[in-house]
Amino acid sequence: MDVIITPTAEEASLVAARHFEVEIRQNPAAVLGLATGSTPLRLYRALIDARLDWARIRTFNLDEYLGLGPGHLQSYHHFMWENLFNHVNIRRENVSIPDGLAQNVSASCSAYEGAIRAAGGIDVQLLGIGSDGHIGFNEPSSSLASRTRIKTLTEKTRRDNARFFGSIEEVPMHVITMGIGTILDARKVVLLATGEGKADAVAGAVEGPLMAMNPASALQMHRRAVLVLDEAAASRLRHADYYRWVDANRPEWQRV
Ligand code: GLP
Repeated sequence: MDVIITPTAEEASLVAARHFEVEIRQNPAAVLGLATGSTPLRLYRALIDARLDWARIRTFNLDEYLGLGPGHLQSYHHFMWENLFNHVNIRRENVSIPDGLAQNVSASCSAYEGAIRAAGGIDVQLLGIGSDGHIGFNEPSSSLASRTRIKTLTEKTRRDNARFFGSIEEVPMHVITMGIGTILDARKVVLLATGEGKADAVAGAVEGPLMAMNPASALQMHRRAVLVLDEAAASRLRHADYYRWVDANRPEWQRV
């Protein structure tokens, strides 16, 4: 794991955005895995401002609430168009987000996996992290080999996400999410975490045991996982000084 610690959330977002900017410039037909939540907002703004060419870029989003159509203000479809896609020249047919209105959920999930495979796999996957360590909507106890499927949200996640809805009762119980196995198949993973609320989950993911109870710890098995953290999210890492040392002494060719 490559752990990068920046003084502020703003800088962390810009460092993570840079990984995507470089990818898009080097590979104009890249396949990107994208995430929602409040954390990636600044990153998306930076990508919009970079005025990149998205004409051949394809994207796959991590997850969607079951029961919410694309027109619902809290759907991840709406989030993505509002915060990124409407502001870049991506083609609608190159955007994939799990279908929150799928009638046959298993078939829809298999088709999603098939579409990722047909696209040649994901080049760079963006992740946030839940306060319980979830990535996508893979809640604690998710199989580390899981594929795209239905999941039931924990009470904690529904409480965390209630701020976007009127009340916790309005937060859907079920979601479709890429599995941890799906995420690990991406050729590179960039996880962005900011704020103290993520510090325990981050410490568990980086320095704790590999375990289904902290889904993000599965990234320990990934060959190219970059974790970009602000000081607050990094505050419970025991080896933070080492990660800073590594970053400060990175060979020129390894810098992004
Ligand atoms: C949701 C999303 C995750 C995201 C998490 C954290 O549960 N499914 O992909 O990482 O929220 O959200 P935030 O960035 O708002 O803290």
